[in-house]
Amino acid sequence: MDTRIYEVAGQLVIKGKGILAADESTPSCNKRFLAVGVEQTEEMRRQWRELLLTMPGIAEFLSGVILYDETIRQQTDQGIPFAKLLEEKSIIPGVKVDEGTGDFEGHPGEKITKGLEGLASRLKEYRAMGAKFTKWRAVIAIGENIPTQDLIEKNAEILAEYAEVSQDEGFVPIVEPEVLLEGNHTIEKAEEVTTNTLRAVFAALHEKRVDLKGLILKSSMVLSGKDCLQQADAKQVAAATVRTFQNSVPQEVAGIVFLSGGQSPQQATENLNEIVKLVRQPADWPLTFSFSRALQEPVLQIWRGDSAKIKAAQQAFLKRLKLNAAALSGTYAKDME
Ligand code: 13P
Repeated sequence: MDTRIYEVAGQLVIKGKGILAADESTPSCNKRFLAVGVEQTEEMRRQWRELLLTMPGIAEFLSGVILYDETIRQQTDQGIPFAKLLEEKSIIPGVKVDEGTGDFEGHPGEKITKGLEGLASRLKEYRAMGAKFTKWRAVIAIGENIPTQDLIEKNAEILAEYAEVSQDEGFVPIVEPEVLLEGNHTIEKAEEVTTNTLRAVFAALHEKRVDLKGLILKSSMVLSGKDCLQQADAKQVAAATVRTFQNSVPQEVAGIVFLSGGQSPQQATENLNEIVKLVRQPADWPLTFSFSRALQEPVLQIWRGDSAKIKAAQQAFLKRLKLNAAALSGTYAKDME
């Protein structure tokens, strides 16, 4: 295995910086555009990503950006490929390599992630485009009689296979088993499911001898379900999240990054701030944010496809990055919003 991946993994989770997830699939990106009245075309998606990636000053807060297949093939107005633009800013470009979810046969309501077929050859192409790390997302929904152990183990196996192929091709894999926020489950249920899921993922990684020192875990925070009547506060979320990791994540992992999962931007930042305070340094893992929605939503709300709003939208992006950077040192406060 190419040991340079250790260096890339270490840079991605370097203290004080996070990773922007700008890897929404075309249907996901279109859904967000539709909600704010932006035309759902390849050109508008390109303009949106250009707005985010060309904002001066983002390198102070971002170690990496996850791109999507369409995005890594796109360029700025000036003809600079996005991956190259990032490299020039000393931000590491990566790419989401899964191909979305499909039904898990015989398991109604459960999904497995597709995309293992032809993965190694796609990775070779991404390497030539400058990508240094990859991401793969699996989803675990909580509901009546789900998740099943079968689903958890199947997704864990697929994630491990993806991670093995990624490392073989010289990439740092970001392994993302997302426990979904949707539902009326309690935070205790989310903790149980997340612990169980992470244990299955690390057992599968161990089986395939994936090198954890060159791997990053992308996890959900442990939260009350969106429709649960009793909503845990940030301190409870932090305690449950850190306890979950201590019970399931091996020490060797290069780092843990968080998805935002449908929390409001403020909630995600507040929770991150409390989590950071509970992590034992340097005994635990390096830890940072890798949000999509919690970084992009306020920006998209301002832009709405209007070129006259680009500057104002970019300022909102920088502000969100600053607030999350403050959370990484446990110094975020609501009145900074
Ligand atoms: P959210 O922060 O919007 O959950 O997205 C993160 C991500 O990368 C999902 O795959």
